[in-house]
Amino acid sequence: MASDAEASAHALELRRVVKSFGPVVALRSGSLTLDRGSIHALIGENGAGKSTLVKIIAGLYRRDSGEFLLDGESVDFTSTAQSKAAGIAVIYQEPTLFPDLSVVENIFMGRQPTNRIGRIDRRAMRDEAVQIFSRLGVGLDPDRVTDGLSIADQQIIEIAKAISLDARVLIMDEPTAALSGVEVERLFAVARSLRDEGRALLFISHRFDEVFALCDTVTVMRDGSYVETTPIVETSVDELVRQMVGRDVTELFPKLPAEIGETVLEVDGLTRAGVFRDISFTVRAGEIVGLAGLVGAGRSEVARAIFGVDPYESGTVRLLGAALPKGNPRAATARGLALVPEDRRRQGLVLDEGVTQNITLAIRGKLATWGLLWGGAENEAAQIWASRLEVKTAALDAETGTLSGGNQQKVVLGKWLATEPKVLIVDEPTRGIDVGTKAEVHRLLSQLAQEGMAILMISSELPEVLGMADRVLVMREGRLTGEFPRAEASPEAVMYAATADAEAAR
Ligand SMILES: Nc1ncnc2c1ncn2[C@@H]1O[C@H](COP(=O)(O)OP(=O)(O)OP(=O)(O)O)[C@@H](O)[C@H]1O
Ligand SMILES: [Mg+2]
Repeated sequence: MASDAEASAHALELRRVVKSFGPVVALRSGSLTLDRGSIHALIGENGAGKSTLVKIIAGLYRRDSGEFLLDGESVDFTSTAQSKAAGIAVIYQEPTLFPDLSVVENIFMGRQPTNRIGRIDRRAMRDEAVQIFSRLGVGLDPDRVTDGLSIADQQIIEIAKAISLDARVLIMDEPTAALSGVEVERLFAVARSLRDEGRALLFISHRFDEVFALCDTVTVMRDGSYVETTPIVETSVDELVRQMVGRDVTELFPKLPAEIGETVLEVDGLTRAGVFRDISFTVRAGEIVGLAGLVGAGRSEVARAIFGVDPYESGTVRLLGAALPKGNPRAATARGLALVPEDRRRQGLVLDEGVTQNITLAIRGKLATWGLLWGGAENEAAQIWASRLEVKTAALDAETGTLSGGNQQKVVLGKWLATEPKVLIVDEPTRGIDVGTKAEVHRLLSQLAQEGMAILMISSELPEVLGMADRVLVMREGRLTGEFPRAEASPEAVMYAATADAEAAR
């Protein structure tokens, strides 16, 4: 039985929590109160300290000072096992799966149910996994290894893992960043049912529409400190943005007029069996072509094939009229093509190297004179891009893995922009990036187009595509199903081409 004190206390409470990493103060004064039967949003700019707060709750980090109460009792976790045992489940910003283990094994990692004679009960594990998947409405094969799964699927497994813990407190650090609309809806349905069962939920997201659709209360953080907590019905996007950035962000899609020149990228009849078929399009100098579609439509796969990291069976890719060899990203880079991948942590960054080293990774050859890499040139190049992208880090030689999620994204963008490509393919360029910086990334893309770069922008955010693109291509199930000049690209038309469902288009 819960005592009276326990029943009246908040489910979880943090007061003025401080956390430093050497000279870096990640949290100056983090405060947060979670209540049972409620979904609480935590928002703030990249590097504001949200994930650090979460990791303290999870027992991954220990606080330097401040209070941490669970059901009114002071706690101090020294391991994630302790927080789990106390009923806290966490979905981390970066999936933490073991690639060689199966989906089921990952879900029950470290706490496999056992049967009467103490053996691991594989059937029980599998049954429970299947049950959670059906609750989430996903058709994942529970027996396959997780290696090679899309980030959306990895995220689903993380969610299943958290739900299977049957926790009293569920924390979700940007769980929807890689999910499509349908998957987000299902996750929200599950979150609401958990709330209605009386659990306390914390939801971190850079998407305001989700915060307003799902949450009851919102806490804003800025520069490692608590700013304000407000019931969601008493606030607005503008108000929250002001609290987050301390200024108004008026223009989210600052599209500049650009002169559209010669055809730079020409893709003709590109086909990879079972993945995409007969993909043909062009991108011209100064042009931003948006590639819209649902998650899983094959857009990233097309981009990867063009760049040469994935194979294709037939079709051609031409750069300024000359055919690009298949399966050769090095040649593609040398010829002026760059791809900012979707799964940046795995494909784009060396996490234990410095920010400078990562930004200059793809231009080392160019910076070296007579085979000697001059540190000054390297620092200069890194400096330029780190500041254009507002990368927030204590120092440019800090390990990239210590940067916040959004700031790591910016480093990958910087790495490819530093190659000064003729054609830039960006896959979800602003995923996980906060509102203020998002506007900066858009401004930057627009400027680069104005300077004559040809840009292919894959994005699942319709407003971003419609706001930035001169022309919109749409893919559905591996095929191109629509092409619209800017003036004709309405949300309805694009959604219809993406889903062939008149309902969804409305
Ligand atoms: N292990 C670490 N070592 C050094 N600095 C760190 C470490 N972890 C976090 N930081 C720093 O703490 C600050 C807060 O980071 P945190 O990851 O909490 O931000 P966030 O609010 O989650 O941002 P995002 O929206 O980008 O995910 C950042 O400046 C980051 O560089
Ligand atoms: Mg974070």
